[in-house]
Amino acid sequence: MADESDEHGRMNVSPEILSDLKDLFSGPGPSILFERMEQVNTVGLDSILHGIDMDTRIQLLSIDDGMLYKAMKVLLVSSKVWGGKFDLISVGSRGAVFYDGSQVWKCSISAPEEARLLEKVEEAYKGSQKNVIRSKGPVVNEIILPIEYVEGRTLESSIGSATLSPGLYQRISADVFNGLTELKKAGIYHRDIRPSNILLDETKDRAVIIDLGDATDNPDAIPICNRRYGGSDLLSLGQVMYKMATGHNLFNEFGKPSIEAADEIEKLRKSFCEDPLLQENYFHKVCKDVNDRWMSEGIRLCLAAGLGIGDKQLSCPQEIRDAAYAEVRQYFEVNR
Ligand SMILES: Nc1ncnc2c1ncn2[C@@H]1O[C@H](COP(=O)(O)OP(=O)(O)O)[C@@H](O)[C@H]1O
Ligand SMILES: [Mg+2]
Repeated sequence: MADESDEHGRMNVSPEILSDLKDLFSGPGPSILFERMEQVNTVGLDSILHGIDMDTRIQLLSIDDGMLYKAMKVLLVSSKVWGGKFDLISVGSRGAVFYDGSQVWKCSISAPEEARLLEKVEEAYKGSQKNVIRSKGPVVNEIILPIEYVEGRTLESSIGSATLSPGLYQRISADVFNGLTELKKAGIYHRDIRPSNILLDETKDRAVIIDLGDATDNPDAIPICNRRYGGSDLLSLGQVMYKMATGHNLFNEFGKPSIEAADEIEKLRKSFCEDPLLQENYFHKVCKDVNDRWMSEGIRLCLAAGLGIGDKQLSCPQEIRDAAYAEVRQYFEVNR
């Protein structure tokens, strides 16, 4: 690398290195991010950038490329990262999640909105909410949200493993419901409840709702596309509970791998929402498929309550929403 200092004693970076960096950070989408991150962590940026002054870092950051890469660069060239300990936890369609050994950094274009909604929950609970993730400070560079690290697996990776007993299903269901209540009290609906957005916290023995990237507090917001577990949040919870109890999606009649079946699941769920006869059929199906009585009744309650609310949620009258949540709470609290 170019290592002469300028008249202020700062390092200069040669045009070749700037060009290499540009190549490194532009181009293909997140699918090859993993490989790139490995390059960066082991041989790439750490050695190239070590000791570079702030102006040059800013110059590197100004290379014009996608928002996601920009966010990654902010992290990579910030002093926090010089130690090299920086793990990529997940790459999604809209961003990436990193862990620095003490907290999580979620890079996503929805970071400011996610931060605003999390702040609302924190204000409502003075930071003492139990089943909704907490943020750890303001958004950095408009795209990076610091959040508390939860040690444990997602519900998605735990479903089907022998470690999940019926007793544990019940506790997870009740915790997720409590998280939904915490959100609702803050005027928020999550709209993306699914097993990969539920973390099982090993250290505190609780389930935590994460990923408010699709959440809303806007009464006019239209429903969004959570094909496998969508509908109102309570309807989603009913479907997640069915998945926990059986290993299958309630609306995947044909038993296809869920990745292929997403469109069909959505179509069947929509028919279910519109057709009372079909609802009866599915309630029978739940009774038949789910042996655990608590889960079976809890699923049917969540589905029925969720149906009553409808997927616009905030446009449903407050008394109806409150009554639906109260009914589920009563069951979850009394019958445990
Ligand atoms: N606070 C956290 N602690 C530990 N792991 C997390 C945390 N937040 C997210 N993750 C991991 O990153 C994944 C993606 O995070 P998420 O917020 O759902 O982003 P996306 O919008 O990409 O779905 C999660 O499924 C989980 O595995
Ligand atoms: Mg997610």
